[in-house]
Amino acid sequence: MKTQILALAEGQALAVDLLHRGEVVALPTETVYGLGADALNPLACAKIFEAKGRPLSDPLIVHLPNQEALSVLVVPNELALRLAEAFWPGPLTMILPRRDVVPDLVTAGQETVAVRMSAHPGFQVVVEALGTPIAAPSANRFGRISPTTAEAVARELDGRIPLILDGGPCCHGIESTIVRVGETGLEILRPGPVTREQLANFGNVLAPTYSGAVPGGMKSHYAPRTPLEILVAEDGVCADPAQSIDCSRLGLLSWTLEGKGFGGVEALSRPQDLREAAANLFGALRRLDEGGFERILAEPVPEEGLGVAIMDRLRKAAV
Ligand code: TXA
Ligand code: MG
Repeated sequence: MKTQILALAEGQALAVDLLHRGEVVALPTETVYGLGADALNPLACAKIFEAKGRPLSDPLIVHLPNQEALSVLVVPNELALRLAEAFWPGPLTMILPRRDVVPDLVTAGQETVAVRMSAHPGFQVVVEALGTPIAAPSANRFGRISPTTAEAVARELDGRIPLILDGGPCCHGIESTIVRVGETGLEILRPGPVTREQLANFGNVLAPTYSGAVPGGMKSHYAPRTPLEILVAEDGVCADPAQSIDCSRLGLLSWTLEGKGFGGVEALSRPQDLREAAANLFGALRRLDEGGFERILAEPVPEEGLGVAIMDRLRKAAV
């Protein structure tokens, strides 16, 4: 199959047409690129699993065209309605009890479904024109780094899907925060751009007790092919490994270190801004992975705000 890459303005109508016909299309969102299909068409959704090489036991996130669609697909409680009001459209995914219209393939047979509303204007145009929700996991092969540009999608899925809509680099660069929303509180299943501090304004943030599918729970998730190791910091400071070992064949993902003596360096954010670091994370990992290094050393970032999500992804990428 030939994969076309088209800019938003040029490709939006074709994207809607393909989705209508039960095909898959890679679409930009504000977090990472998604591989979308009509969420109410099981055959179309099956193509997502096929193109990604994703096991059928791993459920999909459903992206809604508008807030009203929430009650059509799930049974929202009070807290869920308040969270939707506060954070949608935006990078928050809620796990809620499903209604029957949602295909089993999308929920992997579970009684819950993950829903969110994307804030990306290009995504919004497509989902509104389609008029039906879009199921979309990140547009990478299973177990690989999430793509944050159209080129990164092409490196994962070229020849396996008909169209990639190019909406430029994703602004958050890290996948949505996933919460399971109960009547009185919520559990963070995957940290992301909406932080624990923000969520705590709406209800009790509970320690996870959830035993169903754990997002990104598989060890291979987010993994580069090159082995990755997280450096140890003491009192927030990392010793420069190049002072003690030969780092010429190693790549460095840096936060504070300059990286002299390394074969290659990717700085997450020179001004040490966690937002910029999150936006750069997957692109930087991908470039280091393609640099042909023996190992990638990653400097930890402070575990506060968005730093929680960044460290979560780094730990999952580490060997
Ligand atoms: O930012 C994002 O969330 C991106 C963009 C494209 O929207 N999507 C994304 O999807 O990261 P995906 O499939 O790569 O990650 C979603 C995670 C998966 O690990 C899946 O297991 C989990 O959410 N998940 C989906 N439905 C679930 C459910 N009903 N219960 C528990 N976990 C669920
Ligand atoms: Mg993913």
